[in-house]
Amino acid sequence: MALQNGELSKDELLDSQAHIWNHIFSFINSMSLKCAIQLQIPDIINHHGSPMLLSDVSTTFGGNDEEGGEGYLLTHASRLLLKEEPLSLRPFLLAMLDPLLMDPWQNLSKWFQNDDATAVHTTHGRMIWDLPGQGQNFSKFFNEAMASDARLGCFEGLASIVDVGGGTGTVAKAIAKAFPNIMCTSFDLPHVVDGLTGNKNTSYVGGDMFEAIPTADAVLLKWILHDWNDEKCIKILKQCKEAIPSKENRGKLIIIDMVVKVHEGENDLLETQLFFDMLMMTLATGKERSEEEWARLFHDAGFSDYKITPILGLRSIIEVYP
Ligand SMILES: C[S@@+](CC[C@H](N)C(=O)[O-])C[C@H]1O[C@@H](n2cnc3c(N)ncnc32)[C@H](O)[C@@H]1O
Repeated sequence: MALQNGELSKDELLDSQAHIWNHIFSFINSMSLKCAIQLQIPDIINHHGSPMLLSDVSTTFGGNDEEGGEGYLLTHASRLLLKEEPLSLRPFLLAMLDPLLMDPWQNLSKWFQNDDATAVHTTHGRMIWDLPGQGQNFSKFFNEAMASDARLGCFEGLASIVDVGGGTGTVAKAIAKAFPNIMCTSFDLPHVVDGLTGNKNTSYVGGDMFEAIPTADAVLLKWILHDWNDEKCIKILKQCKEAIPSKENRGKLIIIDMVVKVHEGENDLLETQLFFDMLMMTLATGKERSEEEWARLFHDAGFSDYKITPILGLRSIIEVYP
């Protein structure tokens, strides 16, 4: 069979067609998942308590499928989409697939050809950090989304911690609850923390992490550095170094972010990390980093050592020492 610039066998042509169609329609995965979540299908099956027929699922939201077929139960992955699950990815899904954050993907090629900082800027005329405060529904999802994986360890032995870019403080509250002896400060842009009040071991401070960070035994940077390019990360890291005690006095940074690496025989994992890399480029001004890239940042910001503990699935805890 003849293409404009070469001959293809029939099989090659059909394979190529199928390959491109697959790429064209990959969005159907995301949109179908969003639809199922909006219809609360995982919650309906969960409440049912035993395998549920498709026809029974659909009648709960007014559908009319044929009777019969197999019964459906939740998989491990679908449990992560339940409303009541503490580690639910539902808020994250609804935030990421909201038109507010989907529209910038339509403008990616426009953004490649202009000088805007991000495709979000090309679409909405402002940076992503300035979006949630505008009273749109997205704001609720954003804060819930960011908080949905707050239940982490690694804070033993600290007297104080400052969560830089800590949003409305859900992570700090979770740490304070798990470790009542740690004083937890949520530090974020003034418009994010304005009007919020703490309690005996939580507090809020508004400011700019590029200018100064409140002092504490440890600084937590959870899902922060991947939002920024290397130059900005070094600025943030230098401010963090100012905020913590010396190595001898056990000062440290606790970074929760991805460390991109090739997982032997697990292309899906690498692909997911690379999706996040594209996401950071499109929504913010950042990227996902390999260990070598992290090490270079720490070195350039004046830190002496680091330890990576890959215990959070695709993300790792990176402890960094002055
Ligand atoms: C991706 S969110 C991470 C939220 C939180 N750390 C979590 O994982 O749940 C990034 C946060 O950084 C904050 N941020 C952006 N620029 C900042 C700045 N210059 N100073 C302080 N916080 C900033 C945003 O308001 C937002 O809450």
